Amino acid sequence: MASSLCFQLHTCSQLRCIAAAKAAAAAAPSSVATANRTLSLLVKRPFLHSFCLPSGSSAELCERQQLRSPELVALEYADLNLSHKIFEDSGHVRIRQHVNPLSSSFSVPTPAPNWDEVFKDPTLPLMVDIGSGSGRFLLWLAKKHLDSRNFLGLEIRQKLVKRADVWVKELGFNNVHFMFANATISFKQIISSYPGPLMLVSILCPDPHFKKRHHKRRVLQKPLVDSIIDSLKPGGQVFIQSDVLEVAVDMRLWFDSVPNVLKHVDVLDQSLLCDKDGWLLNNPMGIRTEREIHAESEGANIYRRMYQKYVCI
Ligand SMILES: C[S@@+](CC[C@H](N)C(=O)[O-])C[C@H]1O[C@@H](n2cnc3c(N)ncnc32)[C@H](O)[C@@H]1O
Repeated sequence: MASSLCFQLHTCSQLRCIAAAKAAAAAAPSSVATANRTLSLLVKRPFLHSFCLPSGSSAELCERQQLRSPELVALEYADLNLSHKIFEDSGHVRIRQHVNPLSSSFSVPTPAPNWDEVFKDPTLPLMVDIGSGSGRFLLWLAKKHLDSRNFLGLEIRQKLVKRADVWVKELGFNNVHFMFANATISFKQIISSYPGPLMLVSILCPDPHFKKRHHKRRVLQKPLVDSIIDSLKPGGQVFIQSDVLEVAVDMRLWFDSVPNVLKHVDVLDQSLLCDKDGWLLNNPMGIRTEREIHAESEGANIYRRMYQKYVCI
């Protein structure tokens, strides 16, 4: 049944980790020593499930090598050869930590793009990442599915979108696009005109907005939940995760509440293991997001759920 998961990716091998570390060293000379330390650690391990690490493994890796979180990100995304940009940009681009999505500047829904202009083939199955952050996660996936999938990132911080756009152009990919949008109010309008099937929506480590009076600033609100469920094609998936249990539970409750429409993937594929509370033990995407890497490097747990829209027979 695992193969029925539309976007399920294979876990990487130790060889891939070694290649990644080598690429990081080549792309960012300043991190050669770091990459070499990583290589020496990796080759001593019989097998490393690098992108489906059990929680805590990354923290252990970090502790043993004293890698800083940005270096871990650079290593994880070494395939993209963007490392030099990461280091250059960190000194120059100041990006606000949080924005208030309820402020008037974010209250106008973003119109859909001309899909023929943003994707080479706008009929391909689409994955949408809500709150796409730097965009590296989607760029990595786009590279793996150059001719078979399209990827759309919705991000409320414009500077992140601009930088991701530069990377898209540099890489020459025509199956990934980033939009400056308040996803909470724009998702439906944007997605409803997409010519192909919507097969995966991810909301990964969304801003927590801890204070109760700020919960309404959280990206996932009832209208967005409804739009996602309505827009997904049968067999399409929703992937949520957070390093903050309260936020993960908040998102989970929305999607657990429609069991006739969405099934959790462990019901469909028993090789996808969950803990006793129903959280997926491993990341099924084949790559971790930046926030996930940061959180795991600090020893945090990641709470994940993945749902699949019921296919009527
Ligand atoms: C903590 S970051 C996580 C980024 C990425 N998903 C990851 O896991 O590394 C949350 C992202 O969601 C974006 N965001 C917050 N509210 C949003 C909204 N209403 N619409 C679109 N993006 C939003 C933030 O700007 C930020 O980049």
